[in-house]
This record gives sequence, C-alpha cells and structure tokens, in this order.
Amino acid sequence: MGAKEPGRNRAGLAYRVRYALRHPERVPAHARRALRDAWLRLLHRDHIAYYRAVMASDAARSAEAAVGHNPSREQWARIGRMQFDYLVRHGLKPHHRMLEIGCGNLRAGRLFIDHLEPGHYYGIDISPHILLAAQDTLVREGLQAKLPHLTLANDLTLAFLPDGHFDVVHAHSVFSHSPRHVIEECFAHVGRVLAPGGFFDFTFDRTEGEEHQVLHEDFYYRTETLVGLAARYGLSARFMDDWEELPHRQSKIRLTAMPDRARTVGP
Ligand SMILES: C[S@@+](CC[C@H](N)C(=O)[O-])C[C@H]1O[C@@H](n2cnc3c(N)ncnc32)[C@H](O)[C@@H]1O
Repeated sequence: MGAKEPGRNRAGLAYRVRYALRHPERVPAHARRALRDAWLRLLHRDHIAYYRAVMASDAARSAEAAVGHNPSREQWARIGRMQFDYLVRHGLKPHHRMLEIGCGNLRAGRLFIDHLEPGHYYGIDISPHILLAAQDTLVREGLQAKLPHLTLANDLTLAFLPDGHFDVVHAHSVFSHSPRHVIEECFAHVGRVLAPGGFFDFTFDRTEGEEHQVLHEDFYYRTETLVGLAARYGLSARFMDDWEELPHRQSKIRLTAMPDRARTVGP
C-alpha cells in the first residue's frame, strides 16, 4: 500500500538500538526529548495539557521547528504547499468554508487563507504559543483583510462551532501526536459540523504492525483501527492513495458522513 514504510515499531528496543548505531549524532537530542517527556508527563497527566507544554517548549526555540521535525523555513514552506496543492487538486474552491484542526503557525493555513474568501478559514489549536506565532505569520504574509478565525481549543468536541458549516475539515500532523481517546472525541463530533457533501481529511503515522507510541508525543496507528473507529460515529473512510505518492512520511484518510449517519455504536 503506497510508497511509505509503515512496518517498523519505533518504540521497540531493537529499532532504537539500530537507530542509535546508524545516527549516533542524534542520540543526545533524543535523550533530551525523553527527559523532557518524563518531566512534562509528571507535571501534566492530561494529554492536552502535556502536549500544550511540549508546544510551549518547542515554540520557545522556533515556531517552524514546533510544527515539523525539520526547522528550515524552506521545509516549512514545502510541507505547507504540499497540503494546499493537494486540497486544491481535490476541489477546494474560494467559496468553501474550511476548519483546520491543529492549525499551528499556519504553515499551510496561510495559503488556505489567501485562497478562500474572507472569513471562510477557521483555525483551532490547543497551543496559545503557536497561535501567537500564527498571528505573526498573518502579519508577515499581509493576510489581515482575509479575517481568518484563529481560536484556542481545549478539546475536540467542537461545541462552539455551528452545525453543517464546513465543506472541508483538515488536520495535518495532529493525530500523529494524539492518543486514541483524542481522535475518538474528534470523530464523535466532526460529523456535526460538516456541511452536506463535506469531508474531513487527516494524516496519521501508519503502522502495519503493532500500534505503538514513542514517548507521549508520537503515535502510530493501523489504518483499520482508524477506519473502524470512524464507522462507529457514522463516518465512512477512504485511504488516500494519491497522497502516498507525495514525499511525506504520514498517510492520509478522508472521512465523509454516511448517508443515513448510521453508526455501529453510538458515542
Ligand atoms: C505538528 S503541528 C502541525 C501544524 C499544522 N497542521 C501544520 O501542518 O503545519 C501539530 C499542531 O497540532 C496542534 N494540536 C495537537 N493536538 C491537538 C488537538 N487535540 N487539538 C487541536 N490542536 C492540536 C499542536 O498544538 C500543533 O500546533
């Protein structure tokens, strides 16, 4: 399935030893991350509070690094452009209304905002630090007249958003940092805010082996797990094969509301 390499368990001892031997120069940085992980986990039992603290720590160094592994401005722009071009190829038009979950510092959002009519972009994020960096991006790009909404969220119930409003909901590199209960909360509520015919695209770190996590930051899921979870909330899933051809290590799934919003199990 696709051009990516989804098989490896990055939390396994064998993988970690092989990785350390191949990239000895990366060991100190990983050790620092592991120490931070342990400390922040001690301070914050709740995942959202924990991840907000991770983002605060990363954003204090560089907003670009906080939303991607490679901090270079070119890489930041390239990944944003890839998300944008993909959705435009899939029919994103200026009159559409878009919700971006985990908008970060608008790596892709700046392009969506520019493309959409004023007020049609709504970005939410759990991190106040990254939302301030998002405002910097807006100013730098001169996008003030597009009046995008940028809102701090504490969960993914989307309770403050209207029914049937968004043609496109987009979450890039968010579920790769989310435990199952956070994803499930999103699936339980996203159908309500989707406009008729709308869809929800999200990326995830895919494994075809055992599901696992690296520290409390990176989560690897099997496609079937997410497809099955979505079905419980009346959402049908399509694995996006054309995304697999792009140079990005995550995979993408598109969810749409089932015609009768049939659920196998209710929330
Ligand atoms: C790796 S960054 C990607 C940002 C953006 N999607 C992009 O592609 O540039 C992940 C972002 O998702 C946010 N995030 C993580 N978990 C979230 C959640 N449960 N709800 C909303 N935002 C979340 C983080 O604060 C961060 O800004």
